[in-house]
Amino acid sequence: MSPRNQVLGHSYSWFERPPGFVFRKQRTRGGANLILRCDDVLLPTLAERYGTPLYVYSATAIREGLKVFQTAFRDVLHTICYSVKANSNLSILRLLAKEGCGFDVVSAGELERALAADSTVARRVVFSGVGKSRDEMTAALKAGILIFNVESESELLLLAECAAQQRKMARMALRVNPDVAADTHPYIATGLRKHKFGVPTGAARRLYAMAAKSRYLKIAGVSVHIGSQITETAPFGEAMMRVADLVRALRAEGHAIEYVDVGGGLGIEYQQPRNNFVEYVANYARAVIEPLRGLNLHLLLEPGRSIVGPAGVLLTSVLYKKQNDGKRFVIVDAAMNDLIRPALYRAYHEITPVVQRQNSSREETVDVVGPVCESGDFFARDRNLPEVEEGDLLAILDTGAYGMVLASNYNTRPRPAELLVSGKSVKIVRRREKLRDLYAAEL
Ligand code: LLP
Repeated sequence: MSPRNQVLGHSYSWFERPPGFVFRKQRTRGGANLILRCDDVLLPTLAERYGTPLYVYSATAIREGLKVFQTAFRDVLHTICYSVKANSNLSILRLLAKEGCGFDVVSAGELERALAADSTVARRVVFSGVGKSRDEMTAALKAGILIFNVESESELLLLAECAAQQRKMARMALRVNPDVAADTHPYIATGLRKHKFGVPTGAARRLYAMAAKSRYLKIAGVSVHIGSQITETAPFGEAMMRVADLVRALRAEGHAIEYVDVGGGLGIEYQQPRNNFVEYVANYARAVIEPLRGLNLHLLLEPGRSIVGPAGVLLTSVLYKKQNDGKRFVIVDAAMNDLIRPALYRAYHEITPVVQRQNSSREETVDVVGPVCESGDFFARDRNLPEVEEGDLLAILDTGAYGMVLASNYNTRPRPAELLVSGKSVKIVRRREKLRDLYAAEL
């Protein structure tokens, strides 16, 4: 195996990079280097032109991710309602809407973004969340969304009231909690009885009966979402078995159940070796479809991370290197305010130098940390990396989902710019914040 295949301390080939992000050999005076690119654009060029920290997304990878889902579910009636919370950049929403996507929104803000991206998309929008306010329901009714995923009795009553006020039918599904365990971080598991989400399957029939009595509610479906970053397909199948039973019971009671909203949650591989994504999504589709076979349903799917996660990187520059006793630190210009997943979930993100010098194979064990004044401000701990120098560029991989959307201005740090690359074309899809933006709303 050549040294370049071992740069991160384990073996991989650059074919196993997230699609859209590939190393390309570049001859320089000092020998050949491998340089990471996004689609057809070299990342160092982007860092030079737009500065760091910088989010870079591959439009090709996003389109491909969506296509994999569309193909896996092609034999059943379905709508993919991309979960806006994963990455809500307008240009990404626009790109997805163009490819036929609908949206899963959880706030009036996300609804407004979806409509700004495509003013005709409302009929493909589902509204989820345990705490929809009256104003949010009203906005969604006005827009004419496809379906409200209702999560409690009180919410059902309020939705009926809002719909009556506007004399508009509200299509609704109850989000049921199927009580299935799925292996993921406790903060993002949602499918158990102890979680705040949905209503217990046992209570659902009573609530559907209640909904049926309301003149402005139209029962249309059943919805679930068992959690996020779930990398086994079995729990999805188990949830669907429970949903299938419920659909049969509800239909027997005379309710017209047309849709099943499967939720999102399919995880991605943040570490090597990466799985074969096409096969993986096909397995997921089989697990979901099989229990529902013969029920003649329209499936709604709410993937977020699995479509945009691998399609983005966070570029950051090495500011300093330092050593405290035995411990080596690489201090970079991105921080927990730009990407909070490692701090919040102890999430692992692969980090790679953007330029890999082929004639240097030295590695060191380092913590990659940001400038924020907290020890929780780290991107990697005790990670083997090829030796980097101050000024080098690093890419934090798989940060297209739950990266920028969770960014904050902590320490009064401006949020990064975002670029969308498609082939050779580069678009700034969000400019870097200026310092004065950060206090512009303060009186
Ligand atoms: N549908 C509903 C109702 C959801 O609550 C979520 C995610 C999704 C769909 C999309 O799930 P996905 O396909 O992206 O897994 N910030 C965390 C993830 C939180 C997920 C919240 N709900 C993280 O960085 O891992």
